[in-house]
Amino acid sequence: MKHTGRQNALYAQSGGVSAVINASACGVIETAMRRSRHIGKVYVGRDGIIGALTEDLIDVGRESAATIRALKHTPGGAFGSARFKLKGLEQNRAEYERLIEVFRAHDIGYFFYNGGNDSMDTALKVSQIGESLGYPVTCVGVPKTVDNDLPHTDCCPGFGSAAKYVAVSTREAALDVTSMARTSTKVFVFEVMGRHAGWIAAAGGLAGRKPGDAPHIILFPEIPFEPERFLERAQQCVEEYGYCVVVVSEGAAYSDGRFLAEAGTRDAFGHAQLGGAAPVIANMIRERLGYKYHWAVADYLQRAARHIASKVDVEQAYAVGKAAVELAVKGTNAVMPTIVRKRAKPYQWTIGHVPLSEVANQEKKVPREFITADGFGITAACRRYLEPLIAGEAYPPYRDGLPDYVRIKGAPVRRKLKTTFKV
Ligand code: F6P
Repeated sequence: MKHTGRQNALYAQSGGVSAVINASACGVIETAMRRSRHIGKVYVGRDGIIGALTEDLIDVGRESAATIRALKHTPGGAFGSARFKLKGLEQNRAEYERLIEVFRAHDIGYFFYNGGNDSMDTALKVSQIGESLGYPVTCVGVPKTVDNDLPHTDCCPGFGSAAKYVAVSTREAALDVTSMARTSTKVFVFEVMGRHAGWIAAAGGLAGRKPGDAPHIILFPEIPFEPERFLERAQQCVEEYGYCVVVVSEGAAYSDGRFLAEAGTRDAFGHAQLGGAAPVIANMIRERLGYKYHWAVADYLQRAARHIASKVDVEQAYAVGKAAVELAVKGTNAVMPTIVRKRAKPYQWTIGHVPLSEVANQEKKVPREFITADGFGITAACRRYLEPLIAGEAYPPYRDGLPDYVRIKGAPVRRKLKTTFKV
């Protein structure tokens, strides 16, 4: 639906944040501010969609240009993010009616939703509310997920930086273990994110270049975990190389689908909170093989690690934010900008787009041909796919020895509605 007059824009962050989600925010905001022929004010939902529902909006026009620019090198979600699932229109009309009420009150005609596959489902539903509730909104999803599991895009902003952190950490920790292995630790287990897709675990594989290099074993969610085969391989590695480095995905699971470790809680989308596969693996090593071990869970460190971000990732994150606005002002509704790989070496990419209906709730897993026949490593094809995504360094500025990250003022937009909404 093409807008004729100038309307305001709303941007919101959603789901787990990343080292570069704010670079996408920067791309959206800077571009929207330049498109003053189409877009009036630029607002952001505080804590994502929750801010939209509760009419808690941030006026980014009251931030300085330097603050907006500095978002590009600041990790986390500068405006707050949320895991909040809007139900279907049939189950919960009230949420959609409230959104429309807030959009109407603030003359919001453009909505940019920055998230992963669950969030693209929410974006799709919001794009449809215009049709059913009589208030047209141009809605464009902005891709983001460290899990790299959105389909129809070469990769997902956030992934390249998490991947780089994991590859670097695997290589560094391996040097530590190998120095001590003769008399002390023989096994190091490193747990990384990626709920149902092993992309981040695969990135750990970039740490090694030749046979015998760490990591010696990668445990993917895509390959059912078989304890006996794993233990046999771990023992072989210790006997052959003197030590063994294992990268385990938090989503690694037994053949019956049970995760190695579930933390016991679930989020708004019904996903199990994961974390704790590494200690389970380490415990097996101790009980069955008796080796001294260390384990680490990269957890938020991997998705917050802006100090070691991939330059390509930062550039792509900004580009999808910018493209989202350009698509919206052309009147393209219900789409998500994608990253299109034009050439593998040297890596060349451009921006395309895909209907939200094709990405909502879809998960792209690591294909079998990217995993070695034994299920414990990455193939040359996988390496060729991953390498460009971690390429280049985009260091943040430093002050007093620490990255100089920005905090927004977060000035609220004056509320217009008399009614409140409880979420
Ligand atoms: O956004 C994806 C992700 O980083 C997953 O890899 C991880 O399982 C999850 O988010 C953690 O989410 P939360 O921070 O809500 O516990």
